[in-house]
Amino acid sequence: MIINRLIFTENMQDNKVQIFDTTLRDGEQVPGCKLDTAQKLVISERLDLLGVNVIEAGFPVSSPGDFNSVTQISKIVKNATVCGLTRAVENDIKVAAEALKHAKYPRIHTGIGTSDSHIKFKFNSSREAVIERAVKAVAYSKSFVEDVEFYAEDAGRTDNEYLARVCEAVIKAGATVLNIPDTTGYCLPEEYGAKMKYLRENVKGIENVTLSCHCHNDLGMATANSIAGVINGARQIECTINGIGERAGNTALEEVVMVLKQHPYLNLETSVNTKLLYDTSIMVRESMGMPVQPNKAIVGANAFAHSSGIHQDGVIKNRETYEIMDPEDVGVTESAIVLTARSGRAALAYRSKKIGYELTKVQLDIAYEEFLKIADKQKEVKDDDIHAIMKLVSKDSKVAIV
Ligand code: KIV
Ligand code: ZN
Repeated sequence: MIINRLIFTENMQDNKVQIFDTTLRDGEQVPGCKLDTAQKLVISERLDLLGVNVIEAGFPVSSPGDFNSVTQISKIVKNATVCGLTRAVENDIKVAAEALKHAKYPRIHTGIGTSDSHIKFKFNSSREAVIERAVKAVAYSKSFVEDVEFYAEDAGRTDNEYLARVCEAVIKAGATVLNIPDTTGYCLPEEYGAKMKYLRENVKGIENVTLSCHCHNDLGMATANSIAGVINGARQIECTINGIGERAGNTALEEVVMVLKQHPYLNLETSVNTKLLYDTSIMVRESMGMPVQPNKAIVGANAFAHSSGIHQDGVIKNRETYEIMDPEDVGVTESAIVLTARSGRAALAYRSKKIGYELTKVQLDIAYEEFLKIADKQKEVKDDDIHAIMKLVSKDSKVAIV
């Protein structure tokens, strides 16, 4: 498996994976995540600094507020491409082009549903008519900007042969990027990867465009699917900070970036400055008021915290025994040793030393007994508790602890 991947990526022309951030569009459209223009400007400046390649700033036709946000973001972003979403509708495209007119690198992101279910129930249309609308939307977008991304909504459940025909038609019409969304988060990684491979092998002109992964997390596979996509030839991943987004969310930016960094044999890179990931996560979490689950990969409060005695002892001896990445690489200052009733003497000695107490073996034995009494009553033993324990130990052992 690994050998196949290596051969495959060595044959790829470009090992750079573009990071397309849609926190301000697919992420922000979730109830409770609404941001005002000022907050969006702060986040887009941060995303630019983080090193993402594309910022999807909004859906300009959806409201005057979103139009204004996309306009203002277009004015301030210095490095990234600024993108606006549209349906395959002329007025949407015209409005998006207007909102993007100040962008240094503008991109229109237009598209239409391509699965049989979307064609039948959303549009009451036919496969041929959908191709016609897709081509018209791309050609019209092209009259405003050079960079046009096409999305085949629900591509995850679209028949590959038909999807290939749609892709070929929009490439001919001028699309520069082809987005293959797993809109409902249904695909398995093998299936999503195979879809990318099928398109690469069966669509004329595909070598001239960038294939993009846009995965939702309904079955918890958004990250795995996006990685399967890039292993099979996609060179853009659409994602959000903290994985926020519709229903179970989008692919988490911090996760795909760190997967590629921690697996160098894949020979795939991003331009993201990973040391800014944790602070960016906090910025988004706080401005949206959307908490991050403590066990969330990379940016959750417990992502680098160790609480069982066996793990703590291992990490104190050598961090790599239980950590596959350096917390500093994502902007977390250090691994946390959390003291609970499952912690051992090594963790208590380590934590005590951190706050100024050097214990002899006898003192540690006495301290550990006191520690367990508190730990059985509390979820966590904090530094204040340790100070209290040390007073008792000094009395008991008749030796001052220094
Ligand atoms: O999930 C999806 O299909 C989308 C498209 C609008 C790109 O967000
Ligand atoms: Zn989406």
